[in-house]
Amino acid sequence: MGDSAFNRADKIIRPLRFSDLAAVNGIELTGYSHPWPDAVFRDCFRDDYRLWALESSDQQLIGYAIVAYLFDEAHLLNICVAKTKRGQGAGRMLLAHLAREAFDEKMSVVTLEVRLSNHSAIALYESFGFERMGLRPGYYPGDALREDALVLTLRAPG
Ligand SMILES: CC(C)(COP(=O)(O)OP(=O)(O)OC[C@H]1O[C@@H](n2cnc3c(N)ncnc32)[C@H](O)[C@@H]1OP(=O)(O)O)[C@@H](O)C(=O)NCCC(=O)NCCS
Repeated sequence: MGDSAFNRADKIIRPLRFSDLAAVNGIELTGYSHPWPDAVFRDCFRDDYRLWALESSDQQLIGYAIVAYLFDEAHLLNICVAKTKRGQGAGRMLLAHLAREAFDEKMSVVTLEVRLSNHSAIALYESFGFERMGLRPGYYPGDALREDALVLTLRAPG
């Protein structure tokens, strides 16, 4: 788990910048068996995407989230927290922020895919109120076989 207690008050969430990408790539490598290459992150700097950075008071990047808006749907494409900072509320803070922003911008739903084996992420999403909508068979690359994705959605309040 993390190296210090998570203190929400000394963290900020702000738009991710191109200059964050070195730090993003470092965190991404620790987060996934099949990390996104740098070029994919660069391609996400678009008007219909929202890119969020969570940083500490000493301006160290702790985590990030990438969201694509399409019509009324905010699709969470990537959310990742630095390995030493996990289990302290950072993921929940990013999720709350991106969902609030999406609903403020009139999105009616946040959707995402998650590997069936990613128990900690599924626990986070379900504790936040996401509901299971279905499976996408073989959605993710795996070491040998491809892995199914669980599709989760969170509806706008009210
Ligand atoms: C998924 C991820 C973003 C969660 O971030 P985090 O900062 O560790 O999450 P939080 O500390 O905010 O935890 C929130 C909830 O997630 C769940 N959770 C987090 N870590 C967990 C673990 N190791 N085991 C079980 N549940 C866990 C719990 O429900 C937790 O709620 P609680 O604190 O009330 O118990 C982080 O583990 C990560 O970066 N993983 C690698 C990348 C990844 O898999 N991203 C998701 C792709 S769909």
